[in-house]
Amino acid sequence: MHILLVASDRTHAIRFEQQLVRCGHVVTLASRAFEALDVLRAQQVQMLITDPQLTDMDTPDFVRIARKMGLAQYVYIMVLTTSHEQNTINALLAAGADDCMRITVDEVELSLRVRNAERVVSIDTRDEAIIAMAKLAESRDSSTGRHVERVRLYARELAQAMWEMGHYFGQIDANFVELIYRSAALHDLGKVAIPDAILLKPGKLTAPERQVMERHTTIGADSLASVSNTRTRCGFLTMGREIALSHHERWNGTGYPQQRSGEDIPLAARIVAVADVYDALTSIRPYKGAVAHQDALKMIVDASGEHFDPLVVEALAACERTIDQIHVREADPVESERLLADAA
Ligand SMILES: [Fe+2]
Ligand SMILES: [Fe+2]
Repeated sequence: MHILLVASDRTHAIRFEQQLVRCGHVVTLASRAFEALDVLRAQQVQMLITDPQLTDMDTPDFVRIARKMGLAQYVYIMVLTTSHEQNTINALLAAGADDCMRITVDEVELSLRVRNAERVVSIDTRDEAIIAMAKLAESRDSSTGRHVERVRLYARELAQAMWEMGHYFGQIDANFVELIYRSAALHDLGKVAIPDAILLKPGKLTAPERQVMERHTTIGADSLASVSNTRTRCGFLTMGREIALSHHERWNGTGYPQQRSGEDIPLAARIVAVADVYDALTSIRPYKGAVAHQDALKMIVDASGEHFDPLVVEALAACERTIDQIHVREADPVESERLLADAA
């Protein structure tokens, strides 16, 4: 495993490095937080072990930034601690650390804990395979598979904004933000079972065709349920199942498939509902053109409290500039040409 070890104290760094190398790991050393963030950006690191006292940044801030970087792979974050103080440990875990370990740890405990981290990272690799399948399923009705990518980026941004605004306090934390980024990719997985004649139909669907199309929610949820009885990391498949089933429910109870309403709809699904509709509005589809960012925003704000959870809409309004940046950066090729032409 490739481990990034961040230690401002040279003695600790050398001791840990030697122990980890003896266990067969590849170790990159960094002495400051900013240097470590550069390594995370440039290299495929699977685990980050960090000193409790960094010279250039607060450790919880460092953990939070590392967690928010949106790296392609999951990085297991372990923080070394000098104290058993509960508040310190809670702050680190809330910031997104996976584990805390005493700095005086012996070699056996260190190798066992790193082995546990390896187990989590290998489950993550399996999660990535499931996400890749979801993207493949989506490529049937979109030539690029970018809808899935954009929806998960929007969902993460919305969750992050809600966390910062204190919405649904206690339900949203760093792990929730990370988890929704991964699970949102599964929202339309069930479309794999929808016949081409309906999925790719350029015109409006008839009522019976719409019924078949709506089944992508239950099909997706059922297939995720069938694999989630194996051991899974941090509820990735559980949240994926909730999102797949409920991302077309509406706040006022007029959605599908269960006509759930308000907070009875799982929070992650309420967030993905906004992300999914925003993307549908701002993308070109076989049967419609793209709506401009500001118009899409207005349509969603107008539907707050009817179609959408008002607090998710509030978060969208708060982070709309970032959402627009993602929309421009991740646009499908045809849409991207149009945005460039508009900007010229
Ligand atoms: Fe859907
Ligand atoms: Fe979708």
